[in-house]
Amino acid sequence: MELDQDQITIERGYDIKMTQVDYDSLIPNNVNLKEDRRLQRALESWQPKFIQWWKTLGPVAFQDNDVFLRTAVSVSQEGWANFDYVKMPDYRWGIFLSDPQPEKKITFGDHKGEDAWQEVPGEYRADLRRLIVVQGDTEPASVEQQRQLCQTAPSLYDMRNLFQVNVEEGRHLWAMVYLLHRYFGRDGRDEADELLERHSGAQDNPRILGAFNEPVTNWLSFYFFTYFTDRDGKFQLASLKESGFDPLARTCEFMLKEEAHHMFVGATGIGRVVQRSVELMKEHNTEDISEFGGINVSTIQRYLNLHFTLSLDLFGAETSTNVANYFAAGLKGRFHEDQRSDDHKLKDAARLVPSISNGEIEWREAPALTALNETLREDYVADCAKGVERWNRLLSETGLELKLPHVGFNRHVGIFAGQPVTPDGRLVSQEEYNDGIANEWLPSEADRKYVASLMNPVLEPGKMANWIAAPATGIHSKPLDFTYVRA
Ligand SMILES: [Fe+2]
Ligand SMILES: [Fe+2]
Repeated sequence: MELDQDQITIERGYDIKMTQVDYDSLIPNNVNLKEDRRLQRALESWQPKFIQWWKTLGPVAFQDNDVFLRTAVSVSQEGWANFDYVKMPDYRWGIFLSDPQPEKKITFGDHKGEDAWQEVPGEYRADLRRLIVVQGDTEPASVEQQRQLCQTAPSLYDMRNLFQVNVEEGRHLWAMVYLLHRYFGRDGRDEADELLERHSGAQDNPRILGAFNEPVTNWLSFYFFTYFTDRDGKFQLASLKESGFDPLARTCEFMLKEEAHHMFVGATGIGRVVQRSVELMKEHNTEDISEFGGINVSTIQRYLNLHFTLSLDLFGAETSTNVANYFAAGLKGRFHEDQRSDDHKLKDAARLVPSISNGEIEWREAPALTALNETLREDYVADCAKGVERWNRLLSETGLELKLPHVGFNRHVGIFAGQPVTPDGRLVSQEEYNDGIANEWLPSEADRKYVASLMNPVLEPGKMANWIAAPATGIHSKPLDFTYVRA
């Protein structure tokens, strides 16, 4: 598979100045933690709660195994991005912000042109805290959702990638907890504790966002989750990276570099499933490869439909005054704010948003400021489409293809919530819709059973489960049959 943007970001590496990283502390960091004893003590008292959480709600197995992870082990040439065997509970979760820019200015909203804030402005304190908590909540949530997957990994290579994603989501939690402890005093510390108290799928105290309360039970879903849902993370982080609150901007900028790896796991994971399906279709000269242990393209499409549409909901309603306020206040910008040629204030600007009237999907004009969720979702969809194109290149000789469904399909948030919109964007009768949902458009009971039946662990180095092709290369120039997780 050719390099995509996500992979290029990974290969370019991590450009924080390693001289500024303190590896000797319990919590490796480049924020001068040892100069601030109170903060250091507060974080050191949160740390055992985090480890406790990791051990009880992190991966259900392999906690005592050596895993070949990228972790901060020493001040080496590679800095914190050092690859070595580590047991997951010993992973060096740390606090890393990208380097400050001198004389940084706010680039959008009512405060455009003013100096970026190094402390939280009083009038935006509650909004900023909310943005950080909602982002922070998704990080441990995804670890909880994925905790069973290690028992059915299709290879040691994949198991290691799962664990790398998991420990990094743990680090993203650390990143948000640092902001809460450092900038929000007592209520920040309370929020940090609550991030470990809410649990994915818990009846009484669930995670904040719906899509983070469903367990990820099979690896096809895991790859789609990392492709689509981690990509929602990319877009949320990319708009928070624009924030006028500089510590948040710098935290998110660094998180984005780790996020790129998660989407790489998803993009290449689905690519390998597709590649294997193509091999089996050719070998047996049929599209139905289920009796040969492969996953049919129609099944892959249904899982794609499910995970894509769940992720679309994460962007919220088409119009939102909260989001308009966040932008005007300079708290949350747009994806690639600096590459846009408008006035970055959007006071008089308008854009089209979908609406439904008289049984038709129509587009109406709305103030651009209140429609920022729609703008971000649109950018996200365009980004998602790139991977689908690459998967389709693998499929080209079969005459089959994968497609992103219409944004109105299977939605539970916004104007399309509960509307009978087909994957190709037609508003149909409820009856026709229910029929399509039951039989064609989303994973059926039979799909789920079949995919579950394939989920058998493959623990021999270099071996792959039959339903997925081997990756093109190993990790950190190690061969494919390297023991990525040691028994
Ligand atoms: Fe994350
Ligand atoms: Fe992620």
